[in-house]
Amino acid sequence: MSIVSNSIPKAVALLNKDEIIGIPTETVYGLAGNIYSVKAIQNIFAMKQRPSFNPLIVHIKSVNDLSEIARDIPEKALLLAAAFWPGPLTLVLKKQPCISDLVTGGKDTVAVRVPNHTLTLALLDQLAYPLAAPSANPFGCISPTMAAHVARYFEEVLPMVLDGGACHRGIESTIIGFENGEPVLYRLGSLATEDIEAIVGSVKMITHDDLAPAAPGMFSRHYAPLTTTFLTTDVKEKLKTFPYQKIGVIVFQKGIDDPKIVQQEILSSTGNLAEAASQLYAALHRLDNCHLDCIIAERFPDVGLGKTINDRLKRATKK
Ligand code: TXA
Ligand code: MG
Repeated sequence: MSIVSNSIPKAVALLNKDEIIGIPTETVYGLAGNIYSVKAIQNIFAMKQRPSFNPLIVHIKSVNDLSEIARDIPEKALLLAAAFWPGPLTLVLKKQPCISDLVTGGKDTVAVRVPNHTLTLALLDQLAYPLAAPSANPFGCISPTMAAHVARYFEEVLPMVLDGGACHRGIESTIIGFENGEPVLYRLGSLATEDIEAIVGSVKMITHDDLAPAAPGMFSRHYAPLTTTFLTTDVKEKLKTFPYQKIGVIVFQKGIDDPKIVQQEILSSTGNLAEAASQLYAALHRLDNCHLDCIIAERFPDVGLGKTINDRLKRATKK
């Protein structure tokens, strides 16, 4: 029997028994559990095979619940929450003592957001606690944007995936932390940095490396398909000199004619970056299931969500 279901009462009952379930959000599906249950949190880390120092995002139902989770909240964090919640923005703030080290990976900060998905907001409304939820993929794999992706990853071990359809945004939330009250970008995501800067002025981009990533999830190989992937400004040129026979491509707007291409993913024929972002992971999932020799992806325009798409494509090329 399929683990995919749209029953909120069933989801509530499982979560109240310290179980974890897949939940939809507007960005990607999450593996959710009660933030106050040691059993649920340990289970999330085990199921994802995620290192314990890599902290989870806390999902709350409204900004009114923020003070239960975080303290000493900078003015600019409140401005961003007012502008973008519910929505694809995660804020890293000082944690309240009730938030356990298990959730924060031992840090004194906590990542928190209000997801913009009717089903998950309705679910949170019926729970007495927020939900910790990392993306519902095994560590290092492509994030899921459909209930079926989650079921494929976790069929054997997960009791339920709450089916909320295809994720509207399709790429993880943008993560913002604060240094002396000023915003710092930890992870590019579904909310363009230009939109954030329109509210709070310039945002500092932190540099990170694999040994001590500032947002510990920012290992350079992340969001990666199993198939070898290349990123290029000119797919046609790359194809000419390529030794591979069975190739999949990802392009922004225009398809390419070449007999070596067995699967082609055009992310937005109208050239809309938001549409392209929403299609990216589903395209990577499909290509990864085609037994290809390699995937060639076209570099996107380096503006708005194009920056986020290029970031994920760059990570997809790492082995
Ligand atoms: O869109 C999203 O954010 C999705 C949906 C399910 O909400 N969640 C998600 O979670 O992408 P995850 O666990 O895959 O990524 C969370 C990121 C990680 O890179 C983690 O290191 C970072 O958030 N993070 C969490 N707490 C942090 C903290 N206290 N300081 C810095 N980074 C933190
Ligand atoms: Mg993730």
